[in-house]
Amino acid sequence: KEENPVLFVIFGGSGDLAHRKLYPALFQLFQKGQLDQHFAVIGTARRPWTHEYFRETVQSNLHEGTAEQQAAFAAHFYYQSHDVQDAAHYVILKKLIDTLDQKYQLQGNRIFYMAMAPALFGTIAQYLRSEDLLSHDGFSRLIIEKPFGHDYASAKELNDAIVSTFDRDQVFRIDHYLGKEMVQALPYLRFANQMINASWNHEYIDNVQITLAESLGVEERGGYYETAGALRDMVQNHIMQVIAMLTFPEPETLCDQTIEAAREQVFTHLHQLSEDEVKAKFVRGQYGPSADGQQIGYRQEEKINPQSNVETFVAGELELDLPQWQGVPFYVRTGKRLLEKKTRIDIVFKKATSNLFGGESLAAPVLTIEVEPESGFIFSINGKQVGTGTQAVLHSLKYQLTDADQQLVPDAYERLLLEVVRGHQSNFVQWQDMAGAWHFVDKIRQAWEECDCPDFPNYTSGSMGPKAADDLLAKTGRHWIYQG
Ligand code: BG6
Repeated sequence: KEENPVLFVIFGGSGDLAHRKLYPALFQLFQKGQLDQHFAVIGTARRPWTHEYFRETVQSNLHEGTAEQQAAFAAHFYYQSHDVQDAAHYVILKKLIDTLDQKYQLQGNRIFYMAMAPALFGTIAQYLRSEDLLSHDGFSRLIIEKPFGHDYASAKELNDAIVSTFDRDQVFRIDHYLGKEMVQALPYLRFANQMINASWNHEYIDNVQITLAESLGVEERGGYYETAGALRDMVQNHIMQVIAMLTFPEPETLCDQTIEAAREQVFTHLHQLSEDEVKAKFVRGQYGPSADGQQIGYRQEEKINPQSNVETFVAGELELDLPQWQGVPFYVRTGKRLLEKKTRIDIVFKKATSNLFGGESLAAPVLTIEVEPESGFIFSINGKQVGTGTQAVLHSLKYQLTDADQQLVPDAYERLLLEVVRGHQSNFVQWQDMAGAWHFVDKIRQAWEECDCPDFPNYTSGSMGPKAADDLLAKTGRHWIYQG
């Protein structure tokens, strides 16, 4: 049990993300003793809430622990009504920070969490410095949530405003996929096994498939989603980070700096698509109602323009201009209202060049990494048909986290918050990576704007997306390994 004295100041503290994700994650850290006596949380937002009301809302979103544990945790929460554009409000906030610092002996350690409209991140960062809210004797760290801009230019503007106030090692850009157990397991799989490491390249790998399928629709987030779409919501960030974890060159040692440098290699070597390549290699879709009429289509959802052409599905093929990955297609797809929630990676190895065993041609071995909801590996490899038959057939080697293992897996936010408290940067997004990913998706966006939108809706809720996503692979004789 190791306690980390720290104060959290959450901008957007009355909001959905804070209540659904951040406070339950902090509660987990509290339950495990990583936060104990010496921590406090200030939630700020415009609404005029009292500390008591705030504590009630926090508590009502905790679904574990006893009422006593929840109350003991919530007692560390304070609410400050705050207009982020008013300098005078920062003076009041500073007083509360200083009082709590003393009361809980926080050693001046401060984490500022931006869980609100990104347009104001820069303003907040600048006031934190000008009104002297940054620590003099402990650490000051800044956590930034998505959406981090809506294209490269707006992301750069945001970043410039932040780095003019905070140093590089104080800024933590969060992508919760980097906090997932099986995403963190990827470097182990690659670098702790010489035989996998040796075959992790274009000589042995035919293609890589990444599926981030969701069964839910846009839910109550229609307003945001209409400005984002699947490309910005999932591809620019989560899919790109998964690719980086799968492909970054082996560093000599594992520390924040070497991992960051290795990941940057991936983002600076993403093959940037021309307009014609976008047309040939990326497809988009939007869900319509389900076949049984139980689920409504995207255009019928709340806060959605009934003629909306926003995509809720993307599939595409991308490549890396790195020698190790020359010619290996990375097929990616993500979408809402697909058949089921499934986050998985399929590494499709090349087939053996000759078949000594008769029958049809040998199947391609596939290493599947199941991220969620199941977590584990499935290795499909050729072996002998059992019995007197002589042909080679695919066998499955399977490792899955047990229920007991799953109990040990922290929620992504819990893990990442603890890393910020400890000052570890390697599972956060560096600006160079973000910039590379934005350049990549901007090209797709621009090409899509130039051509006619497909006839939306073009897939049924509960399916695996539009037919065009299957055609994308079929034209090279491949298919999606995961078919639902
Ligand atoms: C978020 C997106 O970043 O990731 C959501 O904004 C999406 O639209 C979510 O539903 C998916 O995360 P997870 O952890 O459920 O796969």
